[in-house]
Amino acid sequence: MGDKQRILVIGAGGQLGQELVRTLVAVFGEDAVVASDINPEKGMYLPNCHFEPLNIFATERMASVIRKYRIKQIYHLAAILSADGEVDPHASWQVNLDGLLLVLDTAKRMHVEKVFWPSSIAVFGGNTEKKDTRQHTVIQPNTAYGIAKAAGELWCRYYHKRYGLDVRSLRYPGLIGHGCLPSGGTTDYAVDIFHHAVREKDYVCYLNRDTHLPMMYMPDAVNAALKLMQAPQRSISIRTSYNVGAMSFSPEEVYHSIKRFYPNFKIGYRPDGRQEIAKSWPLSVDDTIAREDWDWNPKYDLDFMTEDMLDHLARNGKRSVLV
Ligand code: NAD
Ligand code: SER
Repeated sequence: MGDKQRILVIGAGGQLGQELVRTLVAVFGEDAVVASDINPEKGMYLPNCHFEPLNIFATERMASVIRKYRIKQIYHLAAILSADGEVDPHASWQVNLDGLLLVLDTAKRMHVEKVFWPSSIAVFGGNTEKKDTRQHTVIQPNTAYGIAKAAGELWCRYYHKRYGLDVRSLRYPGLIGHGCLPSGGTTDYAVDIFHHAVREKDYVCYLNRDTHLPMMYMPDAVNAALKLMQAPQRSISIRTSYNVGAMSFSPEEVYHSIKRFYPNFKIGYRPDGRQEIAKSWPLSVDDTIAREDWDWNPKYDLDFMTEDMLDHLARNGKRSVLV
């Protein structure tokens, strides 16, 4: 296999993973990236790199993949998102927290140099301030997903302090991309709405019209992960997880942004259980420390993102799947 050092992406078949892998391949080359997922069928969405079926609970297999490809960096993305986590809270804890511990431990044992693991705005809730939520503030998550992410952040800091494992993390807001349809999350509507507009179908939103949430376009999300991972150790002051913001909008606002291009597009509202989850999350986050430490600087606002999303979806129309 030579002495080339490679990057392993775990849970690569999901919304973030597919886009991240594309960028890692573009930056580091096809041979440098090993994508993996519990679902072997996800391999077909991850061409131009190595692919290994991998369940995070199979730690010996994880170790053998790390050995085989001389893995030096891991991006650990396997998760059960917030809405699905409320259906089976124990499974959410197992995958989101126990799974993280297995990855951290295997990374330590196999001398992996760096690990990236995304946390989420779901760590906030309860008495957390809603507007410009600070980096260091009340952490009272309302969901099983948020509880696991909050605990996971502390474990990341523990592995860094106790074992010197270079774990780095971001508290992502809702992620919006044109590459893959999300599922199981509370912020999924902000992707689905674009697919409906392009298919010229009306959209019924499961959140109230004025529910503002922090959001981020996928190119910024991927860029944030790469920037954080490439920053020198000495500039990383947060070893739990960094707040990162980009934009904040409500369903009604994204609807109006889309309507500039699809004037006949219509939206209705039928809130379900996800409204309660969304209500517990911040409206916006203060990401000053990320900006200062490693020069975080998102490019996309709502209108710029809308234009880019619609353009890509219209061009790739055949890939858009609506039920
Ligand atoms: P996703 O649900 O789209 O993808 C997760 C992937 O993990 C799936 O392909 C799934 O098959 C895989 N997986 C599940 N269990 C596994 C296991 N036991 N072993 C190996 N793989 C397994 O999620 P995503 O949206 O791509 O999120 C990626 C990460 O980013 C997660 O940690 C998530 O919490 C975090 N995050 C996402 C968002 C968002 O809006 N999408 C926001 C904040 C944080
Ligand atoms: N966007 C994610 C979700 O809705 C939050 O991490 O679950």
